[in-house]
Amino acid sequence: MRLGDTAPDFVAPTTHDRINPPNFHKWIGDNHWCILFSHPADFTPVCTTELAQLVRMQEEFANRKCRLMGLSTNGLQEHDKWIADIEGQAGGLQLNFPIIADVDRHVATLYGMLDLNDPTNTDPQGMPLTVRTVFWIDPRKRIRATMTYPAAVGRHFDEVLRCLDALQLADLHPIATPANWQPRQPVIIRYDVGEEEANRLFPNHTAPLPYLRYTQINSDDQ
Ligand code: BEZ
Repeated sequence: MRLGDTAPDFVAPTTHDRINPPNFHKWIGDNHWCILFSHPADFTPVCTTELAQLVRMQEEFANRKCRLMGLSTNGLQEHDKWIADIEGQAGGLQLNFPIIADVDRHVATLYGMLDLNDPTNTDPQGMPLTVRTVFWIDPRKRIRATMTYPAAVGRHFDEVLRCLDALQLADLHPIATPANWQPRQPVIIRYDVGEEEANRLFPNHTAPLPYLRYTQINSDDQ
């Protein structure tokens, strides 16, 4: 799967829609982004810390009109029990996003979430695990960014949020974001914006190099 591809649609039971789940695209809706992220297995330590962190941050994603959808390959009853542990680790906050019960690994296969080559990503029986993938999906259901971490490395969810901010900002303005950018910091005028246009759109920009032009975006737009 490549950036710009349509995110594969699917139907799968989740902790929120157990019996007649809507298809994934319908669940996202027309005005929301989605972060789809996978975990190797329920009741595993790194995954538990990751989900507890997402519970602490879930409102940040909601504020950006972004839905969260988790995936693990255990069944719904195990998910329910695990969620109680996660909420405990999140200081009693309620986990308010769905987790797919991908028991037959249908969704994991569709999205290439199974790692077949790296022996650190196998379960005790030697079967491939769903590794730690993240897909940023826009309201048109296009995959806009992806990341894959091995089972043994927990993800940094500030980066997941930061990338979402960068994608959303670059959809509003002809800009790109520099290394280590954080919201409200200067951004870069895109290389394909001509000089005249750059002066018109961003009259106060500065250019330490002819091809490196910084500008500030009004914080109301961020
Ligand atoms: C974990 O979440 O701690 C984990 C899961 C599978 C393999 C390695 C670590």
